[in-house]
Amino acid sequence: MAQKKAHIINVGLIGLGTVGTGVARILLSKRRAILQRTGFDFRLKTVCVLHPKKKRRLSLKGVRITSTPTHITRDPDIDQVVELMGGTTHAHRCLTSALSNSKDVISANKALFAEKGLSLYRLSSRMHRLIGLEGSVGGGIPIIKAFKEGLASNRISSFYGILNGTCNLILTEMSQKGKTYVEALKKAQASGFAEKNPRLDVNGADTAHKLAILARLAFHREIPFGRIFYEGISKISDIDVNFSAQMGYTLKLLAIARLEPQMELRVHPVLLRSDHPLASIHGVNNAVLVRGDEVGEVLFVGEGAGERPTASAVVSDMIDIAKARRLGIGPRETIFSKAKVKPVSEVRSRYYLRFQVEDRPGMLGKLARVLGANGISISSVHQIEAPARFVPLIILTHQASEEKVKNAVRLIQRSSLVKQQAVLIRVE
Ligand code: HSE
Repeated sequence: MAQKKAHIINVGLIGLGTVGTGVARILLSKRRAILQRTGFDFRLKTVCVLHPKKKRRLSLKGVRITSTPTHITRDPDIDQVVELMGGTTHAHRCLTSALSNSKDVISANKALFAEKGLSLYRLSSRMHRLIGLEGSVGGGIPIIKAFKEGLASNRISSFYGILNGTCNLILTEMSQKGKTYVEALKKAQASGFAEKNPRLDVNGADTAHKLAILARLAFHREIPFGRIFYEGISKISDIDVNFSAQMGYTLKLLAIARLEPQMELRVHPVLLRSDHPLASIHGVNNAVLVRGDEVGEVLFVGEGAGERPTASAVVSDMIDIAKARRLGIGPRETIFSKAKVKPVSEVRSRYYLRFQVEDRPGMLGKLARVLGANGISISSVHQIEAPARFVPLIILTHQASEEKVKNAVRLIQRSSLVKQQAVLIRVE
């Protein structure tokens, strides 16, 4: 009898938006199947929502509905608290309350764990409770499990990720369907993948949050979020997408993590050679290319956003945590020493620079002189012909330091040689 009771997992769900609805649907419609496969009977006991009377697309018969999170976090019957409300302030309070009341917690809240995770990890360690974050990165791809278990014998030296479905969809629509940035953003918002505030998607912050969560697991260091450089895709125009394709490159928003010689963590658009494994990841898909000393290179690909893939990841965490709890496994490696992250100004890369220049004699020479004076060597130059006074001039450089390139671009920008803000894209 006691053994049978141990298989029942009472669940409290906080938040019934896109992913919350997906999790509730799986728990209610696949309860028997999950019980048969895993031996655990997940019972959705309570759901906490902002508006309990609101009509839902899902029948929650038999489930208690509340608008008070502590009805879940302080309920002695509840074993697992699933936080899918988003935001950082209230969510932090809810998870602190849940862990303090000895609940295991499952969350897809990348912003919260990237920016304020440390206090929650510490608390989970003190309370011997587990935290599941699979739904926070890569949608349905089990990348966190891969870092924690599948690749556990490896020293991970680098990983590169396409971690935002909205940005990848925008860039794909621009390159494959000839859409402008604004048209492509509208399509991504309509398809329901974007955050409530799509600024976090397109400015690179969402990708940086996910990078922080993965880097912590890959490199076993506490990641100070403020040290991650991030830049988004909102300055990218169809000129850059089309021109890079002509030169044999594909434009992607990439999370870059390298361990050596000094840890590099950055998010920005990059030009990838079109035969690079990440160049062919299109639409809402996410991908992570990992290099480990034992395994070599492995590529994980799958839908990176949306109700069903993310709910799949959240439920897999619930099952994993139920198993760990049953085996008496507590939190492992929750506290690490702080990472030293290389400042982006010290990074070396090749660069794609696009200036809007006046089409008259000597302009190219003047620009080249500023670059040369800053020790930047030009690899190729392309001017796009147009019957206009100002035309795009694109320069690809050889490897150069970010600091020198930015300095040269600043000098060119301040002179009367160019119109508009220059575009700078790193080439990987
Ligand atoms: N807005 C995110 C994306 C959702 O587009 O990838 C998943 O975190």
